[in-house]
Amino acid sequence: MNRIPIWFDTDLGVDDAVALLSIGKLPNLDLRGISAVAGNAELCRTFENARNVCHLAGIHVPVYPGAEHPLFVPLHTAPLVHGENGVGEVELPPSPAPKETKPAWDALYEAAKAAEGELQVIAVGPLTNLAIAFGKYPELKTLLKRILIMGGAAKGGNVTPAAEFNIYGDPHAAQMVFRAGVPVVMCGLDVTMKAYLTPAEVDEIGGRGTPVCRFFHDSNQLALKFFERITAPGLCCHDTCPVLFLSCPELFSGEEAGVYVETRGTVTLGKTVTDLWSDKQFADRHVFVVLDVDRNRFAAKVRELLLAY
Ligand code: RIB
Ligand code: CA
Repeated sequence: MNRIPIWFDTDLGVDDAVALLSIGKLPNLDLRGISAVAGNAELCRTFENARNVCHLAGIHVPVYPGAEHPLFVPLHTAPLVHGENGVGEVELPPSPAPKETKPAWDALYEAAKAAEGELQVIAVGPLTNLAIAFGKYPELKTLLKRILIMGGAAKGGNVTPAAEFNIYGDPHAAQMVFRAGVPVVMCGLDVTMKAYLTPAEVDEIGGRGTPVCRFFHDSNQLALKFFERITAPGLCCHDTCPVLFLSCPELFSGEEAGVYVETRGTVTLGKTVTDLWSDKQFADRHVFVVLDVDRNRFAAKVRELLLAY
């Protein structure tokens, strides 16, 4: 099997953890490294969370510390969904792995060079680390094959009516990534709000009783209550969408589009403006906007991967 070299950039929160656990059991993905960024929680927490989820899952891949704050806007965290510690207030056994000190952007650049143009980045938090990497290493844009993000929305938002959390979290970084010229797959709220597990499905997985399944269930109780409050149909596994799009693209559908990020608006700051429904007006249209998913097959795949631990 030709395995796909990937890099995982994350503000390790509860749905990021599902994405990382999924990566750990997908045989066609070759995880070369992980970088942590501030977002759902402060960097000190997201960095430890990524290390500790790797330890729980037996994923032996280095985790590098990235940006503690966005490029130009204040840091906004999401304790209502992820808890103060980022993993639903669950206490994970601490990883014994040595703490990497190399900055995320340096490690990513080295991994991209080593992969000789084949590396694909899955970025599921604010895009600050990627933006810093592009700024420090201009040739990086020639070394990345594709960037798959959880972020944005062709319609709507969550952290504001106009913007999704990851893009709003660092709109300037997001604009730099969309403009870098590397092909982007955007798994925005259009698809991720459809990529859910029902409360009963979450309970059934938790009932399997393994450490990973118990962690999945327990760490997502706060998030489940949040989604219930906003009348979502279940636990939206936002960050697993780009992972499964890369590994099982047949589960998804979408369209090519141009995407620009609002970086100066007041009411619309962080909005991903796409030309999907505006007669294809943008000249630069190198983003694949994912719009739909086969929910039953998505949920079955997530269950299969979590039960494989
Ligand atoms: O809007 C959802 C996104 O914001 C997810 O990546 C979640 O982990 C948070 O980072
Ligand atoms: Ca995330």
